[in-house]
Amino acid sequence: MASQMWPLSAIGLVFLILGANGQSPTVILDGLGTVVGKEMTTINGRTIHAFQGIPYGESTAGANRFKAPVPKQWSGTFDATNPGVPCIQPDFGILKQMRKESPNQFVSSRYETIGSEDCLTVQVYTPDLQHDQNLPVLVYYHGGGFLNGDESDFRPDHILDRDVILVVPHYRLGTLGYLSMQNDVIPGNAGLLDSVEALRWIQSHISKFGGDPNRVTVSGQSTGSTLSHYMLITPLTDGMLHRAIMMSGSTLTTLSYDRNPVKSARDIASFANCTGTDDEVSQCIFNLPAQTLIDAHINYYSVGGTGGIQPVISRPDEPEATKVVPDDPKVIVQSGNYKSVPILAGATRHDGMFYVNSLDLILNAANLVNNEFFIRKLLAREVLEFAGITDTTGSITDMLDHKYLSYVGTDQRGNYTALIPGLLDVNGNHSIISIFIIPSVLVPHN
Ligand SMILES: *[C@@H]1O[C@H](CO)[C@@H](O)[C@H](O)[C@H]1NC(C)=O
Ligand SMILES: *[C@@H]1O[C@H](CO)[C@@H](O)[C@H](O)[C@H]1NC(C)=O
Ligand SMILES: *[C@@H]1O[C@H](CO)[C@@H](O)[C@H](O)[C@H]1NC(C)=O
Repeated sequence: MASQMWPLSAIGLVFLILGANGQSPTVILDGLGTVVGKEMTTINGRTIHAFQGIPYGESTAGANRFKAPVPKQWSGTFDATNPGVPCIQPDFGILKQMRKESPNQFVSSRYETIGSEDCLTVQVYTPDLQHDQNLPVLVYYHGGGFLNGDESDFRPDHILDRDVILVVPHYRLGTLGYLSMQNDVIPGNAGLLDSVEALRWIQSHISKFGGDPNRVTVSGQSTGSTLSHYMLITPLTDGMLHRAIMMSGSTLTTLSYDRNPVKSARDIASFANCTGTDDEVSQCIFNLPAQTLIDAHINYYSVGGTGGIQPVISRPDEPEATKVVPDDPKVIVQSGNYKSVPILAGATRHDGMFYVNSLDLILNAANLVNNEFFIRKLLAREVLEFAGITDTTGSITDMLDHKYLSYVGTDQRGNYTALIPGLLDVNGNHSIISIFIIPSVLVPHN
């Protein structure tokens, strides 16, 4: 299934050329090699060219683990007709099946691991390969809570009916993408640096696909939106992006960065029996099989751990080339000292389905759905905590209760079913709160 490098002479090339109607689209990349893609058809019947799984970074296994991506050098002909392998991740798809089988059990520990540590690819979709086209470029970062997801989230079927070039990068996920011991062994922010490297690749190569490197829009939903916001505020992408579309996520939400990365990493490591000094723990984690590290994270996650898989504020002594989050995102946003480009920000309408589905599992498992007192008095606060928001004063809970749940009459406030539409809005609209709460994100600045 993995895309492969082939020498020019390989039989594979013959197959490729004959494969897609005898006219495989081909692009020659400066300093690299030739990518051979395939034709696809949009829902409205437009023929487009797809180049999938093109590597922009070397494998992140072994010595490259946790480190900034190493740009991929290759030559010859690359078969770009298969989507890139997902970055290694736990796949909870099995949860849905379990739920059907035993609807009252919350089974967070059941998952399969999919993907690979050799996963840094871009998928490029273009309606026209003419170099002089100069079409705008839309980069879509997939979502998935920094833990899951891949390019299959966003295919070109609809968007490529427009004259736009779509680029969907893979970036490292979970502990392998974000764990940080705040040292050189496990610095953190690997997945963010991948996202930057994908933009750098676009600057170098997108014109060959008919794209305009001076009209790059970063976009994404949920964590993909958070990443887009990071790309906007990091100095490392200056000149590489020109617009941003953010749907349900920003750098300012509680889980957008880990405030105690070393504690998170050590807590996760303890589930893999990595203990000792920070240096010992770092070495131990570095040498773990990826599966063991993922298992350790899920064990930590299952007992309520939320950290270890988010960006971190870069260490002051981090080299400039990798200092991707030079300050607390809140400080950067408030200072206005970041790229002044047009942005569109909002929340997807039913984003809350994801939360409510999980919340529902927990409430059912804990037998709380029919507990009128719990639903009436405690649900709002629990929902916030579930979304990773610690409300020390109670004021957010009150606001949430008033804004999102008060449409239900007092007599029905203990009725879980009646509250579901509001709960969907809470979780769907809550990420918007963090965008709008600090208006300087939206206000023009210098
Ligand atoms: C950690 O150590 C305990 C006790 O020796 C053992 O049961 C467990 O399997 C170890 N876990 C891992 C991930 O090695
Ligand atoms: C949440 O968003 C939806 C759709 O965007 C909107 O219809 C609804 O009124 C919002 N809810 C609240 C309480 O703001
Ligand atoms: C709870 O709310 C649902 C949806 O509004 C409604 O159909 C149901 O009758 C309510 N149950 C009770 C006991 O009031």
